[in-house]
Amino acid sequence: MKICYLASLILFVGHAIAICPMAHKMLTEGTTYDATLTNAYPNGHGQAIKRTTGSTVGFDPSSQYVSTTGTHAFVPPGPNDLRGPCPGLNAMANHGYIPHSGIATINEFAQGTSEVFGMGNDLSLFLAIYGTALDGDIPSLSFSIGTGGNSILGSPLSGTGLTGSHNNYEGDVSPTRGDLYEYGDNHDVQMSQFLQLYNLQSNVSDPSRVNYDIDILTAFRLSRFQQSIENNPYFFNGPITGVLVQPAAYQFIFRFMANKSEEYPEGRLDREVLKSFFSITGPEDNLAYTPGQERIPDNWYKRATGDEYGFVSLLLETTSIGLAHPEFLSVGGNTGQVNTFTGVDFADLTGGVFNATTLSEGNNLGCFLLQAIVLALPTGVSGLVGVLDQLEDTVNPLLEEWDCPQLQEIDESLLENYPGFSRQPAK
Ligand code: HEM
Ligand SMILES: *[C@@H]1O[C@H](CO)[C@@H](O)[C@H](O)[C@H]1NC(C)=O
Ligand SMILES: *[C@@H]1O[C@H](CO)[C@@H](O)[C@H](O)[C@H]1NC(C)=O
Ligand SMILES: *[C@@H]1O[C@H](CO)[C@@H](O)[C@H](O)[C@H]1NC(C)=O
Repeated sequence: MKICYLASLILFVGHAIAICPMAHKMLTEGTTYDATLTNAYPNGHGQAIKRTTGSTVGFDPSSQYVSTTGTHAFVPPGPNDLRGPCPGLNAMANHGYIPHSGIATINEFAQGTSEVFGMGNDLSLFLAIYGTALDGDIPSLSFSIGTGGNSILGSPLSGTGLTGSHNNYEGDVSPTRGDLYEYGDNHDVQMSQFLQLYNLQSNVSDPSRVNYDIDILTAFRLSRFQQSIENNPYFFNGPITGVLVQPAAYQFIFRFMANKSEEYPEGRLDREVLKSFFSITGPEDNLAYTPGQERIPDNWYKRATGDEYGFVSLLLETTSIGLAHPEFLSVGGNTGQVNTFTGVDFADLTGGVFNATTLSEGNNLGCFLLQAIVLALPTGVSGLVGVLDQLEDTVNPLLEEWDCPQLQEIDESLLENYPGFSRQPAK
């Protein structure tokens, strides 16, 4: 079935009804005003951030403890193992939660992200289908977390891998990884960027108060966004890579890496845990980065069962941050020189279905994101039919519940004017 046209042939899926009214309520009526962010960072002239998640399930050490011993002991990658731009997946491979080679199947990604981080299955399914469809090998429903896997392991795997997926999956303004056309490298940590984040808590002298939370990460993202405008002549903020993958990359740092505890059921992310997940070692005055050695810290606790961060959590949190900082929603880029950022007209991009004004009304941003990510998938490919059917169970009820205007297409021809979009990375 063609998932693009879902909105017109929805079969309402009963089991999802329970979560949807809640999602709807949060998107339209969220009430908690987060004064900190908008006051501290006055360029946030959008709407106030609405709190979208909050653990209500407490803390259970036995089920939330993540093993780093035995079969899950840390083993650094060898010369033939693939590692790439995603620290979560690199850490999982280093601890044997997905194959150590760095090539895994959709099912292995789904199981590993749940076991290690408490990612919701709908979200891991989405992320892994994306990896497979855009950067991976459809017959084997797998992809490489680094560069394309075929030549390296002598396997029949095709696809670019996550590293080779610039503008398809991997994009600019990543938290610690550099912009491809700024550094010629989009998968390694740039120490300057890591330090920028690290130092956002340098004024907190009591180490037990340090917490790289969503407010800190949003401030970090604002400054990274500005840096790409100022330093990368080919900066491109794509409809998927910029508007959804980019926020996920920031939000995942706190939502998944933070250590959960009785005192902090939503987690607290301190300096040592941050360093470990970003493969940084050494004392504060001499921090060192070793590519690909991301580690799950010993004695670290993941999200609680029942408090998974899934697809709806990601959409809602992305929406609330996007409404507070509308610059994050500008699809467009620099035009070949720094400081030339120009956005495309949202109405042109979406065939008039949304415009800049209506995008921030009601559930429209969620509707746009939901449909844009589905439209980007190659739905005609027979090898994907089974997994795409599973996605429908997530997507259909939300489209219905949010009463989404139907997006027919994203006009890619508008994006081709941007040199950062049309340039092909050296393969
Ligand atoms: C199947 C699951 C996943 C896939 C396919 C995936 C894919 C990706 C991709 C393509 C990027 C690069 C995006 C960019 O250009 O910034 C990325 C970045 C990132 N991912 Fe994942 N990811 C997955 C799961 C996770 C998990 C479980 C975590 C948990 C911590 C995570 C954390 C991150 C972070 C923090 C970044 C940004 C890295 C940086 O630039 O500092 N991801 N991921
Ligand atoms: C540290 O600085 C941040 C950002 O400037 C600010 O929000 C926070 O309140 C400061 N914390 C302390 C303990 O001074
Ligand atoms: C996680 O939090 C628990 C409870 O505070 C603590 O005992 C443990 O050492 C922390 N783990 C890490 C890696 O900081
Ligand atoms: C956006 O669309 C709405 C509804 O279609 C319309 O009333 C409004 O004038 C449009 N705004 C702009 C800036 O085009």
